[in-house]
Amino acid sequence: MPTITNPQYLLDQAKRRVTTSPMLTLPGMGLLEKRLNARDWPQHVMAQPPAGSDLKPVMGDGGLPIIGHMVEMFRGGPDFWLQNYRKHGPVMLLDSPIIPTVAALGPDAGRAIYSNGNKDYSQQGWTPMIGAFFNRGLMLMDFEEHLFHRRIMQEAFHRSRLVGYTEQVDKVVSQVVANDWVANDPRFLLYPAMKELTLDIASMVFMGHEPGTDKELVTKVNKAFTVTTRAGNAIIRTGIPPFTWWRGLKAREYLEGYFEERVRERRGRDGSDLLSVLCQSEDEDGNRFSDDDIVNHMIFLMMAAHDTSTSTATTMSHYLAANPEWQERCRDESDRLGDGPLDIEALEKLESLDLVMNESIRLVSPVQWAMRRTVRDTELLGYYLPEGTNVIYYPGMTHRLEEIYPDPYTFDPARFTEPRNEHKKHRYGFTPFGGGAHKCIGMVFGQLEIKTIMHRLLRRYRLELPRPGYQLKQDYGGMPVPMDGMPIVLRPLH
Ligand code: HEM
Repeated sequence: MPTITNPQYLLDQAKRRVTTSPMLTLPGMGLLEKRLNARDWPQHVMAQPPAGSDLKPVMGDGGLPIIGHMVEMFRGGPDFWLQNYRKHGPVMLLDSPIIPTVAALGPDAGRAIYSNGNKDYSQQGWTPMIGAFFNRGLMLMDFEEHLFHRRIMQEAFHRSRLVGYTEQVDKVVSQVVANDWVANDPRFLLYPAMKELTLDIASMVFMGHEPGTDKELVTKVNKAFTVTTRAGNAIIRTGIPPFTWWRGLKAREYLEGYFEERVRERRGRDGSDLLSVLCQSEDEDGNRFSDDDIVNHMIFLMMAAHDTSTSTATTMSHYLAANPEWQERCRDESDRLGDGPLDIEALEKLESLDLVMNESIRLVSPVQWAMRRTVRDTELLGYYLPEGTNVIYYPGMTHRLEEIYPDPYTFDPARFTEPRNEHKKHRYGFTPFGGGAHKCIGMVFGQLEIKTIMHRLLRRYRLELPRPGYQLKQDYGGMPVPMDGMPIVLRPLH
């Protein structure tokens, strides 16, 4: 059984602990956050509505020079937005020096943004953030072109394909959870371990590398993914060596080369990994992806699948450790399935895990933002938005509204059951996977993957908090990341 004795392991874990944003780690930041939140910033108008219209102007402020409201956003996440929603209403200007944006808050704004009835909102709101690294990924495409690509990609997420992926996910998970994770040690950090696991899963299920094979290549590819994914959060947002943005561009180049070669290999061959499936996929009219399309989609898919699944599985593990009665309930269902190979029908029986997953991603929503840009002058809930306005919707804030979720900070998975069904109070009250034309295409795949991980984990270990009263703290600088890597104790059951 692996143990934490090796200095290299400890050094590695220590390094992971300090990758958190300085907004969270520098001394005095908590106090600064409190002061900034208490401040009444002078408000200004973003743009005057056309004369004669009864639209209201969007008002807002820029926060501190250079860093704007980063301290409050990175530290407070959804609570920062909630405070602003209560104070300023559903539409406000965040006049950030990096990307000035209109924040659209609450479920009615979610409806307008996701349903996008008049096609006023394009996905190009994402471009300043991640466009350089995830260019021509599905989420960054718009309207007709997006629909064309989505129809072809849909084939790769059909239930008949998910059967094959689930089998492969289980193969990797069983091996890693059984052999690589450290038990009985409160220094074991779940977040980096889970991140490695979801990358190992992707190496097999997405790219067809059997676990333990092509080690050097897989490590290089995984590293390149981590670098590209992080680069969107860079403060210096231009390709100057050796900074984060530049490293992201280099890593993207490497990934393009890697996938170009793989596509050449896979074309015309059978295979059940996602890359092979994308090479074969076609829509009802026989349209297929070009080689370049597949390279771009694969790079985006890896990003879209990886941190989201890591975040969800880690958050679920934390809440199960903190709520032993729910842990037992989930384990009872897993025990009924036993240790046999998993398939979709078996995973569908783990209903308590579905509730725990929903409640976990309500409390810690992995995709914090839906970013859009207006393609013409329009209105949002009675406010005037000129063409070219960046708009950000914040689902995690809606998930904390007490008018939808009474006692919103309490972990209570039963709120998703009959007759309470709190998430159905508003059609856009629960959107961790987005909504409308761009709703997550990998939702079911992700749910199956996460349930496989949790099932194997619960069959093997009891999950415990590292110490009584342990509080989970997130870095909300990008996708939420537990600041301390989330120590957790795995107690072997057998
Ligand atoms: C718990 C896991 C996941 C969460 C919470 C999640 C969340 C989301 C959200 C909120 C969006 C919409 C973004 C927007 O409105 O602009 C999205 C889109 C997308 N997701 Fe996921 N995702 C997850 C897992 C996955 C997985 C496993 C894959 C692939 C295997 C995936 C692939 C995609 C793709 C391709 C899009 C773009 C869809 C489009 O624009 O048509 N996601 N995801």
